[in-house]
Amino acid sequence: MRLQKFLATAGIASRRKSEELILAGKVKVNGEIITELGTKVSEDDVVEYNGKIVEQEDKKVYILLNKPKGYVTTVKDEKKRKTVMHLLHGIKERLYPVGRLDFTTEGLLILTNDGDLTYRVTHPKHELSKVYKAFVKGHFTLDEIRQFESGLKIDDYVTSEAKLDVIRENANTSTVEITIHEGKNRQVRKMCEALGHRVLELERIQLGDITLDGVERGKFRHLTDEEIEYLKGV
Ligand code: URA
Repeated sequence: MRLQKFLATAGIASRRKSEELILAGKVKVNGEIITELGTKVSEDDVVEYNGKIVEQEDKKVYILLNKPKGYVTTVKDEKKRKTVMHLLHGIKERLYPVGRLDFTTEGLLILTNDGDLTYRVTHPKHELSKVYKAFVKGHFTLDEIRQFESGLKIDDYVTSEAKLDVIRENANTSTVEITIHEGKNRQVRKMCEALGHRVLELERIQLGDITLDGVERGKFRHLTDEEIEYLKGV
C-alpha cells in the first residue's frame, strides 16, 4: 500500500493531506523520514507520524452463521469442544459472536469485530426481537400462551412480553414460534420448562429484520450493507 493511503486509511488525514504531511517530512517509516510519495509500505513496516506509531484499523467484518448443534458459541473452549469459529473459513479477522446460542441450539448467529455494533445489538434497551422455532413436549394451552405474553417467573426474574405462535401439533409434541426481546441465559428453554414443556429442538430463525433464509446449516454469509446499516440503527 502507498504511504499516503496507509495514513489515510488509518484515519490520520485525507489522502491529499497525508501527501502534504509526507512531503513536509513529518512521516517516518522504520525510523527514517520518508518524503517520497510513492513509497510502498506493508503491515510489517513501522510507520510513525508525530512521534506516534500509526496503526491500521481492522476492516470491519459482519457474518451471519447458521449454527449447527454441537458447537460452542465462544472463541475458544477450555474443554476443547468445537466452537463456532471452526465454521468460518477464509476469514482472517478476529471475530466475536454477538450474543450466544446454547451448545444444542441451531440457527442464526452474527459474528463481527465491530464492538460498537455488538454493544448495541445485545443491549437490553434496544430490545431487538429474536424469533425461535421450538419443537417441544406437549401442547400449549391458551392460558399458557397468555402467560408467555404477560411474563413468566424464571429463576429470580420475570420475563418481559413475549409471543408464542403454535405452528403444528402432533400427538405428544408441538412446533411453536417464540418471539422474545431479551437474551437471558437459556431463556426460551426455561420459559417452556416453567410451563412443563421440555424443549427437544431449538433454532433461532430471525434477529430483528434479519432472517436465516438461504443460508444452509453450518454455512455462513456476509451481511449486506443494508443489514449492517439496519443493525447500526437499532
Ligand atoms: N434461548 C435458549 O434457551 N437457548 C438459546 O440458545 C437461545 C435462547
